[in-house]
Amino acid sequence: GRCHHDAVTPHPIQVVAHRGASEDAPEHTLAAYVRAIEDGADALECDVRLTADGHLVCVHDRRINRTSNGRGAVSALELSELAALDFGSWKDSEESPDWGDREFTSVLTLERLLELVADAGRPIELAIETKHPTRWAGQVEERLLQLLKRFGLDAPAAPAESPVRIMSFSSRSLQRIAAAAPTVPTVYLMQFLQLRVRDARLPAGARIAGPGIRLVRNHPAFIERLHAAGHQVHVWTVNEPEDVDLCVGLGVEAIITNRPRQVLAQLGRR
Ligand code: G3P
Ligand code: CA
Repeated sequence: GRCHHDAVTPHPIQVVAHRGASEDAPEHTLAAYVRAIEDGADALECDVRLTADGHLVCVHDRRINRTSNGRGAVSALELSELAALDFGSWKDSEESPDWGDREFTSVLTLERLLELVADAGRPIELAIETKHPTRWAGQVEERLLQLLKRFGLDAPAAPAESPVRIMSFSSRSLQRIAAAAPTVPTVYLMQFLQLRVRDARLPAGARIAGPGIRLVRNHPAFIERLHAAGHQVHVWTVNEPEDVDLCVGLGVEAIITNRPRQVLAQLGRR
């Protein structure tokens, strides 16, 4: 996307709303993504899982227990069952007491999120994370690419032209994407410094590095090696002001945050 390296005019760091504006609104709901777009986020992050009847929905956990009034694994439920549930009320608080009554807090399909982005009225990028792709033996990636194709997003002219990128902790998942859609950018997520990527060699099929903020704090030199090896670096989940400063100082290309409004304010962009 638009956050590629440019030695002459460095592009401002891209601010990505993690699960939407998930500090203020229930994660992975239309409400959270609409808020993120209003807040000025450059991009949106979402996790995708397959329902029992083969729909991609935006849910982080294997089960829906934490973020809805239902129970069970996403993979065991059909979309119609998920659609009857309330994915908002768990976020109720004294300041924000009625998420369940609001519009836009039912289960979100990836298709609906792609529509929202297409209708946003300004360019918004999308960072889609495949969850438990190994379990489904390629079905997650197949569905994902089918959907991207329907929106004309599966074959950008070049990675830098793509408003969509695919992220995963699974190198196999990224390899499947790279094989089927070579110009769609891929992000290899890393929680810890792994021996095999210590020298900044990412697994086959992975283009961009996606370290967690703790890894960045503990191993800033690793970030420099990734850059030296030509990789962009997209860091998650960056919520604390001092971590934003650290990422800016290291020149990372994107920060993924639950608080896009506050991060943009810190960066002087709103
Ligand atoms: O953006 C990557 C980050 O979201 C990975 O961790 O658990 O929040 O999906 P998780
Ligand atoms: Ca994620």
